[in-house]
Amino acid sequence: MSLRSTMSLGTVRNTVPWLRDPYGFLGRAAAEEGRHTFVRDLPVLGRTLFLGDPETIAPAVNHPELDAGRAVVGLRSIMGDDSLIMLDGAAHAQRKQLVARHFRGAVLARYDEMLQHVTRERARALPQRFRAFDLLHTIALDAISRVMFGDRPEVVGRSRHLVAEFLGSFDSPLMLFLRPLQRDWGPWTAWGRALRRRDALRAWCLERMDAGEGLVAELAARADGLEREVLVTEVLALLLFGHDTAAAQMSWALAHLHAHGHTLRARAEPTWLDACLRESMRLCPVVVHLTRVARRPVQLAGFEVAAGQRVAPCSWLVHHNPAVWAEPERFDPTRFEQDLPPQGWFPFGLGARTCVGRPFAMRQMQVVLGTLLEQLHTELAPGYRPTPARRLVLIVPAGGCPLVSTRS
Ligand code: HEM
Repeated sequence: MSLRSTMSLGTVRNTVPWLRDPYGFLGRAAAEEGRHTFVRDLPVLGRTLFLGDPETIAPAVNHPELDAGRAVVGLRSIMGDDSLIMLDGAAHAQRKQLVARHFRGAVLARYDEMLQHVTRERARALPQRFRAFDLLHTIALDAISRVMFGDRPEVVGRSRHLVAEFLGSFDSPLMLFLRPLQRDWGPWTAWGRALRRRDALRAWCLERMDAGEGLVAELAARADGLEREVLVTEVLALLLFGHDTAAAQMSWALAHLHAHGHTLRARAEPTWLDACLRESMRLCPVVVHLTRVARRPVQLAGFEVAAGQRVAPCSWLVHHNPAVWAEPERFDPTRFEQDLPPQGWFPFGLGARTCVGRPFAMRQMQVVLGTLLEQLHTELAPGYRPTPARRLVLIVPAGGCPLVSTRS
């Protein structure tokens, strides 16, 4: 089958349902097609081949003619082209090695105490009713700022302020995707503000490198000849991709733990908490699909993909495919006490582009959720049922998952 077809009437039809609820959109498409692999016209992505059958995933993520870096749009004009997520081929492999060594197993234990401290500090000041996402977003932002720039009280406030201001620039998706809005008309326009905040953060990165503190300094010390300006671009990208994702995924975990009555057991048993977290990531992967773009025409899963068209190895579809997971809509953490089906679970991606922050993210989520459960005595706000909502490219629990304290 060819992906080439009519113009984008489909895009018009699909835009609102896709933007509003991608999980629902994908579920309906799979039901209509009778299989989990199909083609849809979408805003920004265009004609896209969605892969939801596990045997189609490895050929796609390992395909030499499918690029991941080139598939990233929207951010280049502010983030630059030279960060891990934007690169492809040999340049990507080289950079990955450089970045990944700072996020591997043994070095991560040093962040545990800081993560516990940040979590306790934030949990102490909670009102009777609060949104889990807001709490976790603040914790994740604080944590990644301290990782990058150091943990001394004198620097924490400034780091947090600059990082929050810069990342706040991305709250409007329109600004990222509508090129005409990307004009620097000065500090009183959204784009002009974003550029100035970026530059302030870049200057701070350089200052912290010189001070020799935080991960920025460690990156600079083992930069393998990479220029400082390039390292700064990398740090900006790590900040951007390293906080919202974890906050969104932890919000789903809290939503599921509360909705299915697992908070007490997860508080007492770290292995159960871990199984619940993984099951939550299966049900609700915050990054719905990976994105690749064809450099040349390729054949995949029985489809012809033209040069420039997109392929989406889709974690949500595989995670909800009944041929892979029995009763896929049921929350059942015991699934993670057994061997996983091959290519059956990939909320962090698969293959050479797997999330570089995965070990850090997993450890952060385990420590933060474990610490929070010790402090929180909460239930879902009356009448609240967790449903998906979009936050830019991520899917979060609608309304941020409101919780209420059960202690007066
Ligand atoms: C629960 C939290 C997270 C989730 C669900 C997540 C998910 C993902 C996914 C799905 C990808 C794309 C993989 C692909 O295209 O094959 C990715 C890539 C990436 N992530 Fe994460 N991520 C998380 C946390 C983090 C953190 C904490 C950092 C940094 C500190 C980070 C940095 C990156 C980077 C730099 C890439 C690009 C890797 C490459 O292109 O080789 N992520 N992530």
